[in-house]
Amino acid sequence: MKQYHFPQIESTNDFAKELLKTEDEVVVTADFQTKGRGRSQRNWEGDYGANIYFSYGLSHSDENPAKSYLHYQISGCLATLELLKTVTKKDMFILKYPNDVYASVQERVNRKISGILIEHTFLGDKCTNTVIGIGINVNQTIFTNQIMEIATSLKLLGFEFEIQDLVDKLIEILKNYISMDDDELFELWKKELNIEGKDIIILSEANKWKVQSLERDGRLLLQDMESDNTRKIDDGQSIRYNLN
Ligand code: BTN
Repeated sequence: MKQYHFPQIESTNDFAKELLKTEDEVVVTADFQTKGRGRSQRNWEGDYGANIYFSYGLSHSDENPAKSYLHYQISGCLATLELLKTVTKKDMFILKYPNDVYASVQERVNRKISGILIEHTFLGDKCTNTVIGIGINVNQTIFTNQIMEIATSLKLLGFEFEIQDLVDKLIEILKNYISMDDDELFELWKKELNIEGKDIIILSEANKWKVQSLERDGRLLLQDMESDNTRKIDDGQSIRYNLN
């Protein structure tokens, strides 16, 4: 596996995708991204040298076929969660569906510390590669106005780390999750997410829903609180629910 580091790059996910045209397995990190991307066409911004901007990319071939798409999403989320718990020796980190990690900063107050963006490239209907992009706020202490109230970092939580040490551990943990059995991984995710039975709101919609189940394809089966209506949602919708 080749590792690439750049002082500045548009997006580590995009560069990893480029590299996967000729490489099988890559890690791309940067001190700064000029076009960092989040889910749902959002930007992912952060200070120079302050945070983890990380992508792990894997080519799929007939000899090395892709696991389920969900497998990579779960691996990215659980690896980030485990990294944060291990290095801080604290149990204050929580997964939020579908791809975020929050830190519990006070009772009932949680702030986002990490976001994960999984991207797949297709040739026809064949998935040729997968990139797991992970952003973790490490040493940044000031955030832009829009996210100052909702974001946190390891430093704001009282921990200081060298970025590269964290990246080395993240690679090890991530590869371990990727190598796991699909069903075993799903069960771990389900347990950590702990979302079944919770009330949720879909942003920009009025209805309240209850999560009936986390489906095996990663979607949430929801029940309308006021009627018998059910629906399934995936990572395309922004949702709010009580993480604790
Ligand atoms: C989200 O919360 O919406 C996901 C954010 C993912 C950000 C990471 S930073 C490294 C990688 N490169 C990108 O452009 N995005 C991901």
